[in-house]
Parts: sequence; structure tokens; C-alpha cells
Amino acid sequence: DQYTAEISAFSPANADELETFRIKYLGTKGLLKDLFDEFKTVSPEEKRTLGKTLNEFKKFAEEKYQLLKEQSETSTDTQSDKQDLTLPGEGFALGSRHPLMLVRKEIIEIFKKLGFNVAEGPEIEDDWHNFSALNFPEEHPARDMQDTFFIKKGGEKGDIALRTHTSSVQVRMMEQGQPPFRAIMPGRVYRNEAISARAHCFFHQVEGLYVDENVSFADLKQTLFTFVQELYGEGTKVRFRPSYFPFTEPSAEMDISCTICKGAGCQMCKYSGWVEILGCGMVDPNVLENCGIDSSKYTGYAFGMGIERITNLKYEIRDLRLFSENDIRFLKQFKTEI
Ligand code: PHE
Repeated sequence: DQYTAEISAFSPANADELETFRIKYLGTKGLLKDLFDEFKTVSPEEKRTLGKTLNEFKKFAEEKYQLLKEQSETSTDTQSDKQDLTLPGEGFALGSRHPLMLVRKEIIEIFKKLGFNVAEGPEIEDDWHNFSALNFPEEHPARDMQDTFFIKKGGEKGDIALRTHTSSVQVRMMEQGQPPFRAIMPGRVYRNEAISARAHCFFHQVEGLYVDENVSFADLKQTLFTFVQELYGEGTKVRFRPSYFPFTEPSAEMDISCTICKGAGCQMCKYSGWVEILGCGMVDPNVLENCGIDSSKYTGYAFGMGIERITNLKYEIRDLRLFSENDIRFLKQFKTEI
């Protein structure tokens, strides 16, 4: 009677519960099996009455199981009838562009408007393209093991290394033709430096080169001034400081008024109001000659900027390592239209 009540009251919430029910009462190790085993041990008189009860109970349990089983099957059908197919699907998360690639794209677009083409060169370079053709003297400190990741000693065009700057692409471009050349050359470069918030063993540059008749330093200044107005907004100031690069003469470094404090002084510009964003200068006649270009006829300017630095100033990023750690919390802040 106790079991009959238990069985009558049973109402499974799902198929698993129904299966547990079947195992408990009807299974090969279930209650009914136990009862029938016990039945074998009772006296013949008792068997008659007990047998009847037992058979009725068995029938009752089996019927209850069948009924529940049918119910559970039809109830799944009703469930699927209830599904609303007009509901919108589950969206899946879109990624975002890497900040360095966003800024690279922006830089390219500005220079395209100014008439520059885009070119690329290999990241694994020989000594000629990375150093010698660019007028680096044999014993120049930048060739030290300190800065350069060397790959192989003594190839046809000198030691093979990871390029330390995109200026190598200038050489490749000029070797392949005659002026006019007007192109920017974005790419990754490598330097053997200890990794910190301010330095990394690789970073990204955009090189610029313009070679033609009568190209002057005034052209260089105007182009870079226009670039900065486009990238950081009207009113951003620029200043040029004399500098030295083996491949440009004269050479300069260009600073802009700090984009964060607008020149008032902050941590970003070390309270000077100015930040350096690129190196530039007039292409050294030796470089033109090394590339088979008549330096008495042509002049040119070149510049090179680090995309990381430009990006830091745009988005107020203070640690270079963020760019290569792939932390989704950092990256997803740069959601943009594609
Ligand atoms: N190649 C230089 C650097 O990596 C930058 C530069 C490029 C300077 C072109 C002048 C002209 O520091």
C-alpha cells in the first residue's frame, strides 16, 4: 500500500526522473524483483493471497510507467510546438581591430590623400639593405649585436638579420626604378632590447620617401605638418630639432605639442609639453648613389615614425607591452566600424 501510494503520487519532471523511477520499481534490481524473490520464501497458503496482490501491484506499476512514458513523449512535442521561431537568434560577439592596425590604417589614408603609394619589404634583411646602402659606416654602433637580431653570418649581401627599421624598404624601392618615388612603407621591425613599458623587441614603423627633382626640406615640413593636423587635429603644433641619421643630411627629429595636455605639461610628455614622434631628413646623396640614382639631378626626403608611439599619444596608452599581450579587456576597447 505504501508503494502504491508512492507510485500514484509520482510525477516526473523530466525523462531522467522517469528513468530513475523505472530502475527503482521495475528494474532488474528493483523493488518488484525483490518482492518476487521474497515471495518464493513464503508458505504455500500465503502464496495464494500474496501472489494476487503482488501481480496486481506489478501490473499497476507497469501501467503507471507506460502512461508516464507516453506523457513525457507527448509533452516534448508540445514543447517544440511552443517554440517561437520568430524570436531573434543569439548574437555572437564580433572581434575588434587591433589599435596598432587602426592607427596604421589611418596613417595610410592620410598619406594616400597626399599622393603617396604604399609599399612593403621583407622583415628578414641583409646587411646591404638594412645598413650599408643606408650609409652606415662599417663600425657604426647600430650594427652591434646589442641592437640587431642576427640570423646568419656572411650572405651574398652581408649578414642576414631581422630588419631594425623600415628604411631598408627605401633602398629596395629606389633600387627597382628611377624617380619620382612617393611612398609610405609600413611594417614590423625588430631590436634586441630588454622588454619594458617603453621598449620592446619588436615594434611597428611607417617609413616615408619622396624623391624627385627639386624636393626640398620645406616640402618635408609641410607634408609632415599636414599629416599631424589630420591625425591629431587642427592646431597641433610641430617643431623640428636637428638630429643625426647616417642616411639623411640634414637630419631632424619632429616633436608635436603633447596631445594629452595640449602642451601644458603632463606625465606623457614628461612635463615638457612636447613629444617626439619621428625622425626625418633629406636623403643623403650617398644613399641615392648606392641605389643607382643620380644625386646631381634628384633630391628627396625621408621620414620614419613608430606606430606604437603615435597610438600611445592618440589613446593615452602608457605601456607598450599591452600591444602584444592580447588581453581581451584592452583590445575590446577599440571597437570601431569595420
Ligand atoms: N630609420 C630611423 C629609425 O628607425 C627613422 C628615420 C627614417 C629617420 C627616415 C630619418 C629618415 O630611427
